[in-house]
Amino acid sequence: MPLLAMCSIKGPGVTTAALGLAAVADESARVVLVECDPAGGDLMLRHGLAAKPNVVDLASAARANGSDSAVYRTVVQALHVGDRAVEVVVAPAGGAQSRAALPELTRAGQLVLNPPDRLVVADCGRFEALSAARPILALADVVAVVVRATADALAHLEEHLGELLDVVTGRLLVLLAHGGIYDETDVADVLGRYVAEELMGPVDQMAVHGPLPEDRRAAALLGGGLVAGRRWRRLPLLRSLDRIAGELAPLLAIAPQGGAASRTDVPG
Ligand SMILES: Nc1ncnc2c1ncn2[C@@H]1O[C@H](COP(=O)(O)OP(=O)(O)OP(=O)(O)O)[C@@H](O)[C@H]1O
Ligand SMILES: [Mg+2]
Repeated sequence: MPLLAMCSIKGPGVTTAALGLAAVADESARVVLVECDPAGGDLMLRHGLAAKPNVVDLASAARANGSDSAVYRTVVQALHVGDRAVEVVVAPAGGAQSRAALPELTRAGQLVLNPPDRLVVADCGRFEALSAARPILALADVVAVVVRATADALAHLEEHLGELLDVVTGRLLVLLAHGGIYDETDVADVLGRYVAEELMGPVDQMAVHGPLPEDRRAAALLGGGLVAGRRWRRLPLLRSLDRIAGELAPLLAIAPQGGAASRTDVPG
């Protein structure tokens, strides 16, 4: 079940935040980061990973094996952030192969992105009306929309908010990126008013967190340009993401090991 889908409005920083969240997630969540950006992946080139296996192989394995989360065993690669090996499914650059693979991952009945026994973090890239990653948002328990708290970026978010609230069935988290000028309370007030008055929508489906700190060191480390030291978790961006991961944890809890099989037993 647990799927955290992450997208951005006009950038920046969704891939960095997705990898950071995966790197600080509790080990017990057995997190896997899947690059679902229809514009293509970045992790392979940034972190010197292999071109295969990739998201196309995930789609093929899912087609052959249904929704069994064991398919991840054959398609993940380990991306090292300091002492943490984050399991990732990379995507080729360019996007054409990702766009071809995404429909299989989101077709009706396909639950490979919602495994009961591990947390999937899906980097869905920039949110657009016709994005091939849009169906992933509908499958997610939490959708985090990364946006800079500036007047122009928030205006873009408002334009998409009605559509986001329509498509997202789980919790919608507005995650303020680094470099904005408004704080969490200001943004929550403005967006809350907009949702209530203009959209007449459910304000309690949405929460605002952040802003994430401007942290070039952590961003370089998560971008593959810097090797992590022993204290990488103490960098401001990672600490901030760790707090957010803690707040989201109750919404993204995995089934206890062995619990998945017993869920199919319906008491008579
Ligand atoms: N908190 C931060 N502090 C400083 N720099 C950051 C931060 N987060 C991201 N960056 C930098 O911003 C740039 C874009 O980041 P990233 O690739 O995560 O964005 P993105 O939203 O995934 O972009 P795209 O839409 O192109 O996929 C990178 O150079 C990254 O290092
Ligand atoms: Mg990206």
